[in-house]
Amino acid sequence: MKTAYTIAVLEGDGIGPEVTKEAVKVLQAAGERHNVLFDLQYAPFGGRAYFDHGASFPEETKAICDNADAILKGPIGLSHEESKTIPVNEQPERGALLPLRRRYMTYANFRPVYLPPELAHFSPLKPRVVEGGIDIMMVRELVGGLYFGSKEEGKDANGRRFVKETLEYDEEQIRRILHVAFAEAQKRKKVLHNIHKSNVLMSSVLWNAIVEEIAPEYPDVEVKHVIVDAAATLLCLKPRDFDVMVMENMFGDILSDLGGGLLGSLGLMPSACIGEKKAYYEPSHGSAPDIAGRGIANPYSMIGSVALMLEKSFGLDEAAATIWTAMREVFGAGYTTADLGSPEGEHEVIETSAFGDRVAAAVRGS
Ligand code: NAD
Ligand code: IPM
Ligand code: MN
Repeated sequence: MKTAYTIAVLEGDGIGPEVTKEAVKVLQAAGERHNVLFDLQYAPFGGRAYFDHGASFPEETKAICDNADAILKGPIGLSHEESKTIPVNEQPERGALLPLRRRYMTYANFRPVYLPPELAHFSPLKPRVVEGGIDIMMVRELVGGLYFGSKEEGKDANGRRFVKETLEYDEEQIRRILHVAFAEAQKRKKVLHNIHKSNVLMSSVLWNAIVEEIAPEYPDVEVKHVIVDAAATLLCLKPRDFDVMVMENMFGDILSDLGGGLLGSLGLMPSACIGEKKAYYEPSHGSAPDIAGRGIANPYSMIGSVALMLEKSFGLDEAAATIWTAMREVFGAGYTTADLGSPEGEHEVIETSAFGDRVAAAVRGS
């Protein structure tokens, strides 16, 4: 087995550097414990990169990412006011994040929505709804749909400004994400919720036809079809009815943030973005400009993204398990971060770096 991995580290904006620091701390602790070396290559990416280097995804960063075994990415994004100070296409979402996804065709986005039973009280839902915990794997298509369809803007014959954005998928794009989701369902409870809007969108009609075509290849997986708007309600009322969910890009963006709401914070939402040859790992949340620089961000999503990287890119399942267990232990010992607070008055709220320290110590086993 290879014992040294090169990781491109993109700290990002806002709370990005704060949570990345803790994730790297925990990564290094896991490396020490499991005898693996990580060569970390830091590279500018996002809004800060634009201000410091004149591009939100500089060429130098592209080269570092191209050469890395995996990419660990903090959230990017400027505040609403700051965004307006740079050209629309250089804003970090359009200028860095979407090009990163496209460059490596990271079409399969895994967004686990997970709360173990003993932490179910972090959820804002009623105890009877979340008793036993929440364990959903949202599989989001990440390089198609409205995000990457053709666009047009201008003035019509009446001089009115208009904009046109298209939701585009070809059958191969749909097929490959569905295979990923079926395979995931096979590994879990063998139930796949297919989220669609075929009552309106032709893209969902094609999507559902392909679900029917490939379902026979997975005879042990039961497919349940749910229309996306109803899925939003059902997730709130009966989150425990879901296991693996699959959906197109925009539906996945919205429902995965709803997932953060079910758990009690976006700070509990790690993710993995997987392509054929390259994968990158990032929290599902953004740069949280409202709390940046205050040392109160929850680093769980970023640390969890490290654990996903160890599992999915390097096959280091044991090291990943050590990290998940360590985070559970820190919560179990009564610590939490400000976003989760102390719903039952039994947790001590600690800062971002203290949370990272405790997780790293638990990983080391001290
Ligand atoms: P956001 O996810 O940054 O924040 C939403 C809310 O959740 C805020 O109240 C924030 O304080 C809170 N929050 C998020 N992460 C947290 C954490 N780890 N700990 C504690 N609280 C946390 O969404 P937004 O405010 O709509 O967007 C801010 C910027 O982030 C925008 O520029 C947006 O485009 C960008 N963004 C980037 C990514 C990414 O890099 N993948 C994802 C989402 C949003
Ligand atoms: C996410 C984010 C991004 C998305 C934005 C920042 C482009 O919200 O990763 O969920 O919409 O995909
Ligand atoms: Mn989002």
